[in-house]
Amino acid sequence: MTRPDDWHLHLRDGVVLRSVVGDSARQFARAIIMPNLKPPVTSTADALAYRDRILAALAASGVPEGAFTPLMTLYLTDKTPADEIRRAQASGVVHGVKLYPAGATTNSDSGVTDLLGNCRATLAVMQDCGLPLLMHGEVTDPDVDLFDREAVFIERVMQPLRAAFPALKVVFEHLTTEQGVAYVREADGPIAATITAHHLLYNRNALFKGGLRPHWYCLPVLKRERHRLALLAAATSDSPRFFLGTDSAPHPRGAKEQDCGCAGCYTARHAMALYATAFESVGRLDRLEAFASLNGPAFYGLPANTGTLTLERVAEHVPTALPLADAEVVPLAAGESLPWRLAETPTA
Ligand code: NCD
Ligand code: ZN
Repeated sequence: MTRPDDWHLHLRDGVVLRSVVGDSARQFARAIIMPNLKPPVTSTADALAYRDRILAALAASGVPEGAFTPLMTLYLTDKTPADEIRRAQASGVVHGVKLYPAGATTNSDSGVTDLLGNCRATLAVMQDCGLPLLMHGEVTDPDVDLFDREAVFIERVMQPLRAAFPALKVVFEHLTTEQGVAYVREADGPIAATITAHHLLYNRNALFKGGLRPHWYCLPVLKRERHRLALLAAATSDSPRFFLGTDSAPHPRGAKEQDCGCAGCYTARHAMALYATAFESVGRLDRLEAFASLNGPAFYGLPANTGTLTLERVAEHVPTALPLADAEVVPLAAGESLPWRLAETPTA
C-alpha cells in the first residue's frame, strides 16, 4: 500500500521520545504531533524547538534523514494571540492548532475554558489562513455522564463553532460514537475525523474483562459495541472524511497501574497491524489504503506519500511490555497475537 501517515500522535519528549519515535517512523511517513507536553507547545518558537528535538531523536534512533516528517501543532489556550497563528502559518511546519477543553484529558490544564467566548479573533485568523482546528471533542461538565461527553460536545461546542466559522477546517479527533460519525458524515463544510485502532477493535467491555484493565483506558473512553460498529462502518466507507489517527499515548506502566491511572493506550509499535486486523474483520482491506494513506493528506492539503508499506498476513506476538526510557510501557493487546505484521522496511 501507499505509505501511511498518522494524523494524531503523542511522542512526548526527552528520553521517552527517544524510546517511541522509531515505532512510528517504521510505518508512517508523517505524523501530526500533539502538543500536550508539560508545559504545552503554545507558540511557533516552542513548536520549532520541539521539532528539532524530534529530528534529533529520529537521528539517534537510526531513522534516515527525511524518512519521517513531524507535522507540528500548537496547543490552543484562552490567550493564544491571533498573531501567533500568522507566525505558525508562515513557519511552514505547523499544520494545526489543537483544542483541549480545560480538564478534558492528560495535560489539558492550560486548555480552553470558553472557545467562542475567548478565542474568536484567533479562530478568525485560522479560518482565513486555512489552518485546521484539531478538536478533542468532549465537554468537561461534571454533570454530563462520561460516556455522553462526545455527543453533548457536538451540540454545545461543535455546532455553535461551525455556525460562527463555517469555513474553518475542523478535525474531530479520535471519534468514538455513532453520533460523532453521523455528524461528520453529514455536516456541511470542511470537516473530517480521525479514528484510532483501539476504538475500531474494542468496546467498553475490554476495560472490565476479567477485572479492571488500565491499559485499555484512554480518553475519549471506549464506548458500547454499537458505537464501535458505527466507527468501523465509517472507516471502511467511501467517505474521504475519515482517516487514521492512532492517538498512541505512551505512559509508563506505573502511571497507569495505580489508584488514579492515566488515560492513554500505546499502539504505535503495532499500529498498522491493528488497523489491518480491524479492516479485515469486516472484509474491507480494500479500503485500508484510502483511510490510512489518502484521505488524511487530501484534507490537510498535502500530497500523498510516494513510498510504500507492505503488511503480510503472518501472525505476530505483541510483547507484554516494551522499554520506555528507564521504565516500560504495556502496549495495547499485550500478550495477544495479531494476524498481520510489517513485511519489510518501507520505501522512502
Ligand atoms: C492522551 C495523552 O496521554 O496525552 N491520552 C488519551 O487517553 N488519549 C491525551 C488525549 O489525546 O486525550
Ligand atoms: Zn491524543
